[in-house]
Amino acid sequence: MEITVDTRPAAQIDAEALITYAFDQEKPDSGVLAQLDQAAGGALSKLVASGELTGKMFETTLLYYPQGLAAQRLLVIGAGKKDKFGTAELRRLAAAAVRALKSRQVKRVTFLVRENDRSAASAQAVVEGLILANFDSDKYKTDKKPGTEITHASLAGWEESARADADQGLARGRVIAESQNFARELGNEPSNLLTPRMLADRAAAMAREAGLAVDVLDENKIAELKMGALLSVAQGSVEPPRMIVITYTPQKLDPKAPVLGLVGKAITFDTGGISIKPANDMEKMKYDMCGGAAMIGVMRALATLKPSCKVIAVIPSSENMPGGRAQKPGDVRIAMSGKSIEVINTDAEGRLVLADGVTYAKKLGCTHLVDAATLTGAVVVALGNINVGVFGSDEAFTSQLLLSSKAAGEKMWPLPIDDDYRDNIKSGIADIQNVGSGKGGGAIAGAMFIREFTGDTPWIHLDIAGLAWQDDVKPWNAKGATGVAVRTLVDLAMKFK
Ligand code: BES
Ligand code: ZN
Ligand code: ZN
Repeated sequence: MEITVDTRPAAQIDAEALITYAFDQEKPDSGVLAQLDQAAGGALSKLVASGELTGKMFETTLLYYPQGLAAQRLLVIGAGKKDKFGTAELRRLAAAAVRALKSRQVKRVTFLVRENDRSAASAQAVVEGLILANFDSDKYKTDKKPGTEITHASLAGWEESARADADQGLARGRVIAESQNFARELGNEPSNLLTPRMLADRAAAMAREAGLAVDVLDENKIAELKMGALLSVAQGSVEPPRMIVITYTPQKLDPKAPVLGLVGKAITFDTGGISIKPANDMEKMKYDMCGGAAMIGVMRALATLKPSCKVIAVIPSSENMPGGRAQKPGDVRIAMSGKSIEVINTDAEGRLVLADGVTYAKKLGCTHLVDAATLTGAVVVALGNINVGVFGSDEAFTSQLLLSSKAAGEKMWPLPIDDDYRDNIKSGIADIQNVGSGKGGGAIAGAMFIREFTGDTPWIHLDIAGLAWQDDVKPWNAKGATGVAVRTLVDLAMKFK
């Protein structure tokens, strides 16, 4: 999608569709809506009076060849209550408009922001919405109609004097949303077409193109480094594991500055292993690599946005299969850190690969860690499909992340970790066991297990199991992998000092 800034007056914009939005119960008597209404001979006032245009969230009102406007269509999207409106809502409105117009074969659209939304942050949100909504999970459909995408979009509402703000938001929004779509593409790939080796190849190709350093550890190197937890998961499959490391180094690097480590779970298929999962819905477990995909997406964006800190992504990748050499319940393995782990349930494999992931990230010099993982069904019980579960060992670092999640429009909610939960993961025979022994609190047990390996390093764990995949179509988004956490972590890295 090509996106430009158009500073012409709204009535002169000759797009196939001009998009704007109206708040709940709003009358077109001021600002942008009043201008459009006047130019179009009172068309909007009449629609409001008739009760057709109410401003309810995501309501769509489409006018064809409105008189007085150069655009072929005017699309007014309901924006809901004005006092609840922010950049998160603006992003979704822009996205909903694209979803509505894409199906009508429209190719060129202009998004006209309202009088209070003329900042760089607004431009960024609109652009993110447009690009994310233009994505469809249809790569393997052989009967798709060619050219159902929107090919051109422009941003309007900014005066010539504010063009720099619009341009800045546009550039930033573009790279972030394209990187999120990159993560979504990986998340949608079936596991036969995205093994750990193939994931590593795709990450390496991206890194080379973006100018990032990349190092892929193969099974021999992984064994040499004694990553016993990752190897234990991988041994049940004929596909070898990979540890993918992508590094961004700023031009001016202060050797004493903190280094951000992003560790992502990338199980390219999770059968559960010997503790095998039921057949129902098992096909979804191809998306068990979305934590890793998110980190690859973040690195892609950072290569362009160039934060001032060094960032290292560490992505342990494996299949979790019940092959003849598979790990078995009760097995004891030594992780890279030297800790012994009793594997009670082979389906709790994510925390095993992350154990070696965070240990390696620390070894590479990361001073702060964030991991993202589709780790537990329990977090979905706790928070549903609305909020990512956030566990943090350091209050200041965790509040930074929560602020970034707000700025990025990705809902995240803190959950507790404290020493009282530790008894849960005590093993009778090894240092720790990979599942909690108590009833309930499954997402917390997962976090407590990872904490054993992060030690004193400030660390945040994001359990994205409820948000990495979207089963139903939303007005603003296609089904499938969502790329959740990419925007939040890009924001965090850009502000990290
Ligand atoms: N990949 C799953 C978690 C998951 C579940 C992700 C649903 C997305 C949707 C993870 O490896 C797993 O199987 N976790 C177990 C842990 C249990 C055995 C302690 C779970 O949540 O049941
Ligand atoms: Zn599992
Ligand atoms: Zn898993």
